[in-house]
Amino acid sequence: VSDYAPIEASGQLESTLPSDWYTDSDVYALEQEHIFMREWLCVGREEDIPEPGDHQVLDVQGESVLLVRNREGQLRAFYNVCRHRGARLCAAGEQETSDHRLPLGGGVVGGRTILCPYHAWSYDLDGQLLRAPHIDEEMGLKVEDVQLHPVGCETWGGFIFLHLSPAQAKDFSAEVTDCAERLQRYPLASLRTGPRIRYEVRANWKVLCENYNECYHCGPVHPELCDLVPAFRSSGGDGLDWERGIPHREGADTFTTSGTSDRPSFPDLNEDELTRHKGDLVYPNLFLSLAREHVAAFILRPKGPAHTTVDCLFLFEPGTMAAANFDPADAVDLWHTVNRQDWSICERVQQGMQSRVHERGIFSPMEDWNLDIRRYVTERIGAYVDQSL
Ligand code: FES
Ligand SMILES: [Fe+2]
Repeated sequence: VSDYAPIEASGQLESTLPSDWYTDSDVYALEQEHIFMREWLCVGREEDIPEPGDHQVLDVQGESVLLVRNREGQLRAFYNVCRHRGARLCAAGEQETSDHRLPLGGGVVGGRTILCPYHAWSYDLDGQLLRAPHIDEEMGLKVEDVQLHPVGCETWGGFIFLHLSPAQAKDFSAEVTDCAERLQRYPLASLRTGPRIRYEVRANWKVLCENYNECYHCGPVHPELCDLVPAFRSSGGDGLDWERGIPHREGADTFTTSGTSDRPSFPDLNEDELTRHKGDLVYPNLFLSLAREHVAAFILRPKGPAHTTVDCLFLFEPGTMAAANFDPADAVDLWHTVNRQDWSICERVQQGMQSRVHERGIFSPMEDWNLDIRRYVTERIGAYVDQSL
């Protein structure tokens, strides 16, 4: 529709995905089916469900999932759907009541049984049907043969990952090996969540991934951050050594408003990690930013082609959090500034890409990590897109 074709990708420049891929609901539906239903998704932290019998009801890409810790202390996850006639087993949080809606019984009762509120079928915390009142084998139902529909559940570094199609799931440990190796000296599993902030971002999840993976934008968008980490500004974010970590300015060693902190460093970090900043990710939806004494974790929850919920968790050592003078505001304030700058610019990108004249963009050389998400998504939905659009 424009007089001008998209800028030709040549030399060191490569094309982005077509803009439709960030805005079109058919593409989003393909991602839902071929990425979010087929990959391990980070949903939260183990510490939020510590004891046998504890449970949570989670919305995972529109599916209600019941996450429980069984009597042996293992996490189990199921579709929150009764095998009898499909009733929701557990209400999500506060039950909504109104003139025609009353609170119902059922759910996880006594820390050991999942009870359906409709006809009182009951299941154990491994999803095995225990009892179907007034129906027996003679009538044609063998209780031992019935289990709740499973959801895959694994953990790494204290993070919980779920898989909505567990029969087709790739081996989880292979998915996190590289990241686990790079971050081996950070005590992720023993950290605890301090403050958490939820952001509703009016942008496609891939816009957030691409933004997280380049620092070409840091100079223009993040002045405070670049004062703390001047390397982010120099040469447009090119040539950053993420393996070793990115050095702070002279006299600073962590990601706080002052660049310093009284909080002790994680004990096993190497010399670089004691003074530098690291970033990492587990696709498709967990970003990690690591300082010497805290970690910021970002869990993306794609909600639609132009809407992503982001939960930002601030992780600290439990001993540090227990100190009488513990005050995470210096880290939270810096991050909250940087985060809002990022989400604001991502929303501007989403708005611009919705224009009829924008067909696609180009990646500049310093953004080569971006190619990861482009390949990641193309490998999974590329074969289907042309047929559907
Ligand atoms: S629908 Fe659950 S017991 Fe009938
Ligand atoms: Fe940013």
